[in-house]
Amino acid sequence: MDMKDEFLIQGLAGKRLLKGEIPIRGSKNAVLPAMASSFLFSGPILLHNVPHIEDVLRMSELMSSLGAKVSAKNDRTLLISPESAHAHILDTAIAKRFRASILLSGPLLSRFGKVVFPYPGGCVIGKRPIDLFLQGFKKMGARVLERDEHFTLFAPKGKLSGADIFFKIQSVTVSETFIMAAVLARGVTVLRNVALEPEVTALAQFLLSNGARIEGIGTTTLKITGGAPLSPKHSYDTIPDRIETGSFLLLGALSSDNLLISDCKPDHVRALIDVLRESGVIIKEGKDTLHVRGWKKANTPLSLQIKTHEYPGFPTDLQAPLVVFFTQCKGENLVFETIFEGRLSYIEDLKRMGADIVMWDTQRALIKGVTPLKGRELDGPDIRAGLAFLIAAIVARGSSIINNVYYIDRGYERIEERLSAVGVSIERRKKAGSA
Ligand code: EPU
Repeated sequence: MDMKDEFLIQGLAGKRLLKGEIPIRGSKNAVLPAMASSFLFSGPILLHNVPHIEDVLRMSELMSSLGAKVSAKNDRTLLISPESAHAHILDTAIAKRFRASILLSGPLLSRFGKVVFPYPGGCVIGKRPIDLFLQGFKKMGARVLERDEHFTLFAPKGKLSGADIFFKIQSVTVSETFIMAAVLARGVTVLRNVALEPEVTALAQFLLSNGARIEGIGTTTLKITGGAPLSPKHSYDTIPDRIETGSFLLLGALSSDNLLISDCKPDHVRALIDVLRESGVIIKEGKDTLHVRGWKKANTPLSLQIKTHEYPGFPTDLQAPLVVFFTQCKGENLVFETIFEGRLSYIEDLKRMGADIVMWDTQRALIKGVTPLKGRELDGPDIRAGLAFLIAAIVARGSSIINNVYYIDRGYERIEERLSAVGVSIERRKKAGSA
């Protein structure tokens, strides 16, 4: 995969020609914290159903630079041995490439009593502050020094202390970081207003199954009694990626009467299934499959109002592909992005493709349909908008080029091969002029 790759897509001009099966891969946002949690263990841990994506490679590089051993056991299984870890300073260049690098702060600080990390990078979708991390660590007794956009944290006498922490916002990576920090802290930590996303619950269950003392899993209050490093007993099975599942459901709704999405967890995309059914999309649900069987468009125009929300509400990561879907719905539908203030910037490009979208303000968009889309050259601004552009290009008339393919590769495994298998005309090319 190359920073300079591009996708060339021939659109279907609204025809419903895709068919076949797309198996869902392991969740990016579940596997990254599980990898980071290896520092809580006294021996090697195994992770299964690991997706082949760029963010997993970045996390492996970052952990290897700290001295941990990360090796592939087979196609989708990683073995991570933390015993040889010796460093506590995150490599700036790698850490700045993905926001999830900050997940290492919790396990490193609680294991080694110190950690140094840069202001994390990642998708530009809003301000994305780290105040909740810093406040939480201070509550657990850490000293925090900031210099040249780098944070140095020390735990007195090398150990964090249990604390009662209320998070003013439900945050996914903050919840995961403090679950991990608390497992090795001295005494009891109570975390309040913990995020309920399946990725958070999966991490807590994994640690529990390996002896961590965590009460209240699946609720917003967790009580965690700290102790010694965990001895590995059970391996980690990465849950299916619910954002992939949802994106392919939306693609199926727009371009297929027979698309089977397999190896998924329908319950994790309940909010989207509901919207699609309300819009007339026919979805058959199995235990671990979702089968799109067509779209009966009603005569009455739709008038939905969708607000992105913490789980189990409508996920912000599916907001961009939902907007693409609404361009093909009769009616006027409103999308309100409430989690990240900068996550609607891609809409200008959709408008250039022919979408009729009125911005009420920077976070609310009214999408009027139906508007045919025309193919064009697009610059994916982040992982999720990048995939939304792919869907728009597939629906559009004519050909499109998508630049910044690295963003899509960060979160979706070999997307062009999987889309080709169900009938999409898509080709990965080296960008003209690149080495
Ligand atoms: N926030 C603060 N202060 C903090 C931390 C977060 O104000 O210290 C705010 C954020 O700015 C945001 C809100 O809290 O307004 C909630 O964001 P959250 O912290 O939950 O987001 P995150 O943990 O940084 C994870 C996913 C994102 C996903 C969000 C929301 C990972 C690695 N990333 O990010 O995924 O959009 O939760 O569900 O789990 C992606 O995969 O493309 C992606 C961006």
